Amino acid sequence: MKFNTSLDKIPIEYIKDNDIKKINRLPLLEKAADLLKNGKIVGFPTETVYGLGADARKSSAVKKIFQAKGRPQDNPLIVHIGDMNQLKTVIRGEMEDDIRQILEEFWPGPLTIVFPKSELIPERTTAGLDTVGVRMPAHPVALALIQKIGFPLAAPSANTSGLPSPTRAEHVLDDLSGKIPLILDGGSCQVGVESTVITFEDEKIIILRPGGITREQLKKITDRKVVSSFGQDKISILKENNNQSSGKIPLAPGMKYRHYTPETDLVLFAGRLDRLSELYSSYADKNIFLVLSDETIAEIKKNNIFSAKGEIIEMGDLDFFLSEKNSDQIRKKVINEKIIKMVNIGSKDRLDEIANRIFYILRELDRPAIDLIIVEIFSEIGIGEAVMNRLYKASSAVIR
Ligand code: TXA
Ligand code: MG
Repeated sequence: MKFNTSLDKIPIEYIKDNDIKKINRLPLLEKAADLLKNGKIVGFPTETVYGLGADARKSSAVKKIFQAKGRPQDNPLIVHIGDMNQLKTVIRGEMEDDIRQILEEFWPGPLTIVFPKSELIPERTTAGLDTVGVRMPAHPVALALIQKIGFPLAAPSANTSGLPSPTRAEHVLDDLSGKIPLILDGGSCQVGVESTVITFEDEKIIILRPGGITREQLKKITDRKVVSSFGQDKISILKENNNQSSGKIPLAPGMKYRHYTPETDLVLFAGRLDRLSELYSSYADKNIFLVLSDETIAEIKKNNIFSAKGEIIEMGDLDFFLSEKNSDQIRKKVINEKIIKMVNIGSKDRLDEIANRIFYILRELDRPAIDLIIVEIFSEIGIGEAVMNRLYKASSAVIR
């Protein structure tokens, strides 16, 4: 079915005031709720990234999400709840006290917890798994919407499968125009990377996907060991389980797919400025954009690393700089005048800002006029772990 997708704005002051009641009463929310009640799918903001929602209880509605995104059938959806009473309806069995404590601490917020699923949730939603990932989002529009419909909302990120996640309503439109009837525009997402997905096993909390709630935050609140199903931890879990098959290690099924990847080539930069300038000269005829921290840009300027001129694009100017009508000029300028484009993503010490901006930048730079995006490698402390997890998946190589 082809839709004339409408993108409708929620008043920004209601969002700033976190006024769920006022948002709930908007005619626009009625429109979104009616669509969802009728088994349709709707784009909506959360504090992490935009979601594409459907009635989590209805297999036929959930199927439309998979179709619109081109999502692999074996990748389960997160079920979003609007209050604690809804939790009981989607999960089964007793909850341990410390798990309750964790969700009370971090909900509403960017944490998804995997539980055994109840009968209410069909297998289509969980991609055949007997478990369900649940989260209560912190964005007032998401909460108002779920409270209005009164049922849980299944929602993946509202992008075409494989592309960077959308942190603005316009990004959802770019990917899903014509495929969905409505996008609620709630401004730009504050966290900017998706929720952390965790599960429990024996005395462990296993991070299946790093995200908005950091490993350090989880460690503070639990006596359990916090491990990951990816990277170094995965190797040590494998060793611990020694002779057991690797199939025992829980994984977020979605983590195995190509992910977060712009169509434009993306490589990471490990910090050696001499290697960067070498690469730059060998691609003299290419339109390259560098995404760097404030500190690295300062170092490049101080040491006069490139022989060419440099132009620094501050975050606030990126939109304008890249606007369609400038596109051709960008190419001419960069190639003919050999100007080096450096997008300043912010300070290395403000990883929260880097997280907030990374998907936005990747999507903005993903355009035919640009040949290569080079992104600095940032620290994996705190939310940096989620940022680097996405960047490693998005990139094809590392400049060392
Ligand atoms: O912040 C977020 O989590 C956003 C917003 C919209 O809430 N949603 C999101 O959904 O990122 P999605 O579908 O793009 O990613 C969900 C991840 C996938 O890696 C999936 O495999 C994992 O969560 N997941 C979902 N249910 C699971 C389950 N029952 N067991 C293990 N992993 C699960
Ligand atoms: Mg996603």
